[in-house]
Amino acid sequence: MDLEGALDLIVEVPDFPEPGVLFRDLAPLFAHAEGFATVVNALAETIEPDTELLAAVEARGFMLASAVGYARGLGVVLVRKPGKLPLVAQRIDYALEYGTASLELPAGVAGPGARVGVVDDVLATGGTVDATCQLLERAGAEVAGISVVMELAALDGRAALSGRKIRSLLVA
Ligand code: PRP
Repeated sequence: MDLEGALDLIVEVPDFPEPGVLFRDLAPLFAHAEGFATVVNALAETIEPDTELLAAVEARGFMLASAVGYARGLGVVLVRKPGKLPLVAQRIDYALEYGTASLELPAGVAGPGARVGVVDDVLATGGTVDATCQLLERAGAEVAGISVVMELAALDGRAALSGRKIRSLLVA
């Protein structure tokens, strides 16, 4: 399966999680063996060569980063929603396309100077990835790049991430 065919497996769901939001559902892509492998391999190629570690955003980012990490021989830091981590290095509150959210970085896994690649499924407003980058940088790590499957151009996440290297497989 080629990349275009794999990305065609993403389904648009209107009015979820609230009216007016067009939700991009990657569940059919994740469930399709060839499609998932194709997207993971393509995403793996977007990781900057000097990357030492990946950071993934809960929850769909975990799916992608673990597979990309395996493909590239890299470990993964799980950036989590609040209340899940026993030892928290940093916490940040931020705005989402719909509502607000918080994320936490586990202690002791993304140390000073580490070159970290951020992996997620969708870049919408950029709030989630920006918050993740800030968490990493507050811990002293460096963001090597940002890799996402899909970027929603209308929400201009790139503006929120000005100056950072962003690679997306699909711009919608
Ligand atoms: C979605 C998506 C990204 C984020 C993108 O996550 O997986 O992480 O929103 O939006 P933004 O660029 O406007 O911040 P969601 O919070 O729905 O979590 P999930 O992966 O647990 O479903």
